[in-house]
Amino acid sequence: MAIEHDVETTGLVGWIDRRFPLTSTWKKHVSEYYAPKNFNFWYFFGSLALLVLVNQIVTGIFLTMNYKPDATLAFSSVEYIMREVPWGWLIRYMHSTGASMFFVVVYLHMFRGLMYGSYRKPRELVWVFGCAIFLCLMAEAFFGYLLPWGQMSFWGAQVIVNLFSAIPFIGPDLSLWIRGDYVVSDVTLNRFFAFHVIAIPLVLIGLVVAHLVALHEVGSNNPDGIEIKAKKGPDGIPLDGIPFHPYYSVHDFMGVTVFLFIFAAIIFFAPEMGGYFLEANNFIPANPLQTPQEIAPVWYFTAFYAMLRATTDPFKIVLMIIVALLGLFALVRARGKWKLGLPVLAVLVVLAMAFTESKFWGVVVMGGAVISLFFLPWLDRSPVKSIRYRPFFHKVFYGIFVLAFLTLGFLGTKPPSPASTLIAQICALIYFAFFLGMPVWTRLGTFKQPPERVRFKPH
Ligand code: HEM
Repeated sequence: MAIEHDVETTGLVGWIDRRFPLTSTWKKHVSEYYAPKNFNFWYFFGSLALLVLVNQIVTGIFLTMNYKPDATLAFSSVEYIMREVPWGWLIRYMHSTGASMFFVVVYLHMFRGLMYGSYRKPRELVWVFGCAIFLCLMAEAFFGYLLPWGQMSFWGAQVIVNLFSAIPFIGPDLSLWIRGDYVVSDVTLNRFFAFHVIAIPLVLIGLVVAHLVALHEVGSNNPDGIEIKAKKGPDGIPLDGIPFHPYYSVHDFMGVTVFLFIFAAIIFFAPEMGGYFLEANNFIPANPLQTPQEIAPVWYFTAFYAMLRATTDPFKIVLMIIVALLGLFALVRARGKWKLGLPVLAVLVVLAMAFTESKFWGVVVMGGAVISLFFLPWLDRSPVKSIRYRPFFHKVFYGIFVLAFLTLGFLGTKPPSPASTLIAQICALIYFAFFLGMPVWTRLGTFKQPPERVRFKPH
């Protein structure tokens, strides 16, 4: 077939190419998208996230065919899917396991970005779109969890929507507006269904497209954190770049194979995953008159939930002292009147904290933990991107941060005790210190010189 300037001129593809940029798009984003040749297994998780997204959409469509968004029918319609609909159990387990695996994959994907500094210039927008995806994913999972109308669906939604009532002035009206009723009810179920099946998925897909368009505009980072576009051959192709297809399509196919083994093993042998993926209480129909002994969100929310619970009255005082000290620090460093904004803000925050309940500040801490992620590109001031070329103590800090996050996640699954609350408070402080201290600690220490070209061992 003859090819002229990125288009086929003959045959069916030629016919399409004269009307639609098929070949040129394929080339730009697949067969002539040059990715660094030193990708490792951490680079599987982006394509795996795409795979799980497709799985959720396809299985979700089939579930919707038999699910009834009605408080009197929802629970039994899910049982009907599990017992009567041919292969319904498989579709449902693929969807419920997919939800948890989505978070496993996305958490690992984000951690990769953190390790290799993938959020740094010029990929700030790739990261910001990613954080927006993460927020949407959380909303999607939250809305979806109400749909089976089990005890945990009902009481989980009740607890989370009630959090909004802690916002001063508008809170009670706001939570009423979200619920559409004085308690979580059929009205709430209907609107959560609408959000779960169409509104959020549309936004999610749009954001994923924006994420990939932004990535392909600037090109992928790599484990060495150096820009391959800085060294191009006479043909204008990066010397360390290889076409995505066939090299990484085959590489990703291997990742997909391993992933599908794990995914299938969970679906067929442990779909409840010991109560982590499907909670025991959710096999009991929702009962507005009986509160379960323990209300715990699904594992992927527990780290943030633990921060919310850790914000007790004494912890609020600790936070007030920290804000006051930060304000004082800003005051000492303020040169010129216009820089007095920060100390003034600190005073206002401390005053606001003194006059509002700790529940509200728990919501602020929980929300702040997710929002902090957005600012990562501007907080990190390290002269090199990849963790490979940073001082040893940076690796220790990363390790402590991950440990604190995992500890919070674990504590969030357990009923609180004085000791566990104290540990959660320390971990929450570590979490925020990691981000807020970044402009300082990421500059310190002796950095290794990154190589001129990516490190790569052929195998
Ligand atoms: C539905 C969820 C998501 C999908 C489908 C997705 C998809 C992808 C894909 C296919 C890539 C290219 C392959 C790779 O580098 O692994 C990528 C890269 C990237 N993603 Fe995501 N992503 C998602 C969520 C996120 C989130 C939540 C973040 C961060 C908050 C994020 C940050 C990044 C970054 C920084 C890169 C560039 C990595 C590099 O070049 O080293 N992504 N994403």
